[in-house]
Amino acid sequence: MPRPDSARTWLRWPETAGNPLAYGADYNPDQWPREVWDEDVALMREAGVNVVSLAIFSWARIQPSAGTWDWAWLDDAMDLLHRNGIGVDLATATASPPPWLTTAHPEVLPVTRTGETLWPGARQHWRPTSPVFREHALRLVEAVATRYAEHPALVAWHVNNELGCHNVYDYSDDAARAFRTWLEARYGTVDALNDAWGTAFWSQRYGALDEVLPPRVAASHPNPTQQLDFKRFSSDALRDHLRAEREVLRRLTPGVPVTTNFMVMGETRGMNYAEWAPEVDFVSNDHYTHPGPQSHDELSFSANLTGNLAGGRPWFLMEHATSAVNWQPVNVAKKPGALVRDSLTHVAHGADAVCFFQWRQSSAGAEKYHSGMVPHAGRDSSVFREVVRLGGELRDLAPVVGAHRAPARVAVLFDWTSWWASEQDSHPSDRLRYRAEALDWYSALLAAGVRADVVPTGAPLTGYAVVVAPVLHVVPQALADELTAYVAGGGHLVTTYFSGVVDEHDHAWLGGYPGPLRDLLGIRVEELEPLLDDETVTLDDGTVGTLWSERVDVTDDAVEVLARYAGGDLDGRAAVTRRRVGSAAGGDAGVDGGGSGGSATYVSTRLGVDGLRPVLTAVLDGAGVTSELPQEVRGRVELAVRATEADAFWFLVNRTAEAVEVAVDGDVLLGERGQGATGPLVLGPRGVAVLRRAAR
Ligand code: GAL
Repeated sequence: MPRPDSARTWLRWPETAGNPLAYGADYNPDQWPREVWDEDVALMREAGVNVVSLAIFSWARIQPSAGTWDWAWLDDAMDLLHRNGIGVDLATATASPPPWLTTAHPEVLPVTRTGETLWPGARQHWRPTSPVFREHALRLVEAVATRYAEHPALVAWHVNNELGCHNVYDYSDDAARAFRTWLEARYGTVDALNDAWGTAFWSQRYGALDEVLPPRVAASHPNPTQQLDFKRFSSDALRDHLRAEREVLRRLTPGVPVTTNFMVMGETRGMNYAEWAPEVDFVSNDHYTHPGPQSHDELSFSANLTGNLAGGRPWFLMEHATSAVNWQPVNVAKKPGALVRDSLTHVAHGADAVCFFQWRQSSAGAEKYHSGMVPHAGRDSSVFREVVRLGGELRDLAPVVGAHRAPARVAVLFDWTSWWASEQDSHPSDRLRYRAEALDWYSALLAAGVRADVVPTGAPLTGYAVVVAPVLHVVPQALADELTAYVAGGGHLVTTYFSGVVDEHDHAWLGGYPGPLRDLLGIRVEELEPLLDDETVTLDDGTVGTLWSERVDVTDDAVEVLARYAGGDLDGRAAVTRRRVGSAAGGDAGVDGGGSGGSATYVSTRLGVDGLRPVLTAVLDGAGVTSELPQEVRGRVELAVRATEADAFWFLVNRTAEAVEVAVDGDVLLGERGQGATGPLVLGPRGVAVLRRAAR
């Protein structure tokens, strides 16, 4: 497998950096007196830190007024870091406009859907479509890039910060103008827009594009296609900003790779990163966990998706937390072992950089209760000891650097448009959560010990034996054709409730759900029957559904009913179905795990992680997919694999808080074997081991 090749695909790594696996944090020296910086770099060296992201929120310090620049402190910081062998992922510093700019130009401030201005005082208070903001931001980018183009500490450019973190939806007049331009490019004419938006409904017909507005707060539900298009537009508007900064950087420093930190995590949904990933020289991600039973599964899911957004190539974990964050209702400290396990789970899924927010925990400001690598308690703290331990473990993982993700046999399909559309208002239920359903399938796969890739729609599916496409709500004809061809080619597809319901314009497919997937699945759904919060449905295999049910009719003889509703109004109707296709159809070829035919499985209710086990087993068995892990540790240990042409690196992550022994061959890069170093690997509570094995 190829290693990252051109300068554009990875850091411009200085020879001084030591470990090729990057380790570090956001570094905000401008928040501290100069004497603290010397201690900072000494502690960075002790921890093995070799990269920092610098100047992310430093605009007001770099440019104290429209016409003045203060570089002395940043020159000093860059030089100091370089002298200590620490590379700099230098921010363009455009994330937080300074007070002088917003005082002179309040028209750069974003406006909410209810018309409120988001005032300065926090950060990211800028309109993605403001020409005034753009001009000032690019002037700053130009100045920073010119100043540091040749600085030996510079390893990469960090555009803005978490684009869209606080300002993804702006309903200002600038946004309205840009939205119209975007719509003109998409539809060409107002008639085409009227068709796409279904404006015959509620007298919404437009006579000219000038009449169109963002979906500001209205008397009732705004037009759903207008809402969906506004989401598409808003993601694109931020991507335009990314491109604009990147073009300045490429012009001035063509050899320095450019990235921006994505937020593939939890319910952060505004940016369609499948469309952003091709815009950066390497993918970076920020990830923060939320407490709960699927907390670590969600981390793995996000890291996995990030790795696949990067096309399987290495990526950069730009931020995560050593312990608590400061922005959840209750900010829980990480449990023992979690700091290292969380970091290494990202590496398992392809990260070649492990960075935190932030280096030194702030003593002032809104993030003073957010953990850092150096906490308020200072060097003499368990967090800093863990940080030093992690630095050592990352050095042991140097051979992994450059290895790509080794593709799994199962894919979970992730579709931003379905995420956005399935959760819009005026729907059968406002309780549906797209990502929660996708995560349940991923957790069920982890529980079965089966490796899966979380891949964005548009990624090639042909190599996968099984594709799970949860709540694939928006199915344009081309996607239906792709999935049909996938199954015809022997693939095993699974999809769920509320899939195939609308096309790309959010218009319902007519004739019964799941629209263009009806023939493929061999079913027809006449009516959607969402459940009230206290309602459940029971299936005849004993599993229980929540949230949703559907009135499913089987329309094809090749369909077998895997489970039926039992009791209630849907009693005896199909709940989970499978249609066999190709040589497996009509016979029992697939039952014992084989046959060259494909299949299409439908699950019409929300079964939850445990309830998915029977259907998942049926699908995996039918596709001949088995766990690569020893039987006794399946579910307790996650396996992720990275590979080069010569080596396969097996990452074994203990999902539990008890020690687990795993009997797997291979040279130990990280971890320990029992019985005098010849026995099974011993994973401590939340422990991680890494083996080097021969690539197949
Ligand atoms: C991120 C952000 C950082 C810091 C961090 C706290 O959203 O990029 O600057 O605020 O969250 O968790």
